[in-house]
Amino acid sequence: MDSRHWHILGAGSIGSLFACLLDQAGVGCSLVLRPSDPALERGSLDILLREGSVTNRHNFALGSPASAAPIHQLLVCTKAYDLEESIASVLPRLAPDAVIVLLANGLGYQQRIAEQWPRFTVVSGSTTEGAFRATHHGQNREVQRAGRGITWFGASELGAPDWFSDWQEIDAHCVWTSDMDAVLWRKLAINCAINPLTALHHCLNGALAERHELALAVRELCVEIATVTEAAGHPEAATHLHTSVMEVIRATANNRSSMLQDISAGRPTEIDYLTGHLVATAERLHIATPRNRSLLNAVRELETSQTLGRNR
Ligand code: PAF
Repeated sequence: MDSRHWHILGAGSIGSLFACLLDQAGVGCSLVLRPSDPALERGSLDILLREGSVTNRHNFALGSPASAAPIHQLLVCTKAYDLEESIASVLPRLAPDAVIVLLANGLGYQQRIAEQWPRFTVVSGSTTEGAFRATHHGQNREVQRAGRGITWFGASELGAPDWFSDWQEIDAHCVWTSDMDAVLWRKLAINCAINPLTALHHCLNGALAERHELALAVRELCVEIATVTEAAGHPEAATHLHTSVMEVIRATANNRSSMLQDISAGRPTEIDYLTGHLVATAERLHIATPRNRSLLNAVRELETSQTLGRNR
């Protein structure tokens, strides 16, 4: 296996989307599945990537954390709350010079992971691509690309590394930045304005522009979010926030946000790494964020009621 090969941990909607895009560009990649995933027995997996009326089939070799092949380049697309456990599970497979790219929503885990495993190069990523997993068809999985966005990668002290040239070949807009913190704050701000509302109202992103009361809620949330983002030292990430949020809502109008997908599937959400991080930062800076706090509480309550419902 060549050392440019990517291993993808977390084949949910975004992990599957990038696996297909890398494969389409001729960049080798394979999927690392949980040992309990029944697909592992087959050794390979087809993923159908749908965009508009076009569907392409991609075939991937599968491995588990226990497979023998060393991992040189690892893209981790798990949920924020699963990142550390997922990386720990593949540690024996990581080559000494491994690059780990984290492509999850939210803030609060990046530094912890880089400090925990200093021998690896840890790069943060962030994407505004919209994608969701459609139902499984027999042995295939299907991912719907619901809106094109921008994908940033960066690590503060590094220029663009050699491996990034492969990402410039894929059919997506990928950018290297030396100011990843600003990008992560911008993305956090956008997610805080979109995800909790869509999860609580069970609606597509587009409804936040179409329904008057939701559009108003987005506008009010953006005021609080921009204030915290600016006070946290990222004024550039706060500039014209409402305009940017509305642009993302329109570009991903047909998407079910990742938080809505989590709630619908009865999974925990990333609320603690999104609105939770924003509200904690606001508290530290003595800024009132009643609207965000109320969404934080409402999503946490929804998660708890789902868990109780499952255990009943
Ligand atoms: O979390 C998500 O769903 C996405 O980050 C975004 C950009 C809000 C599109 O749905």
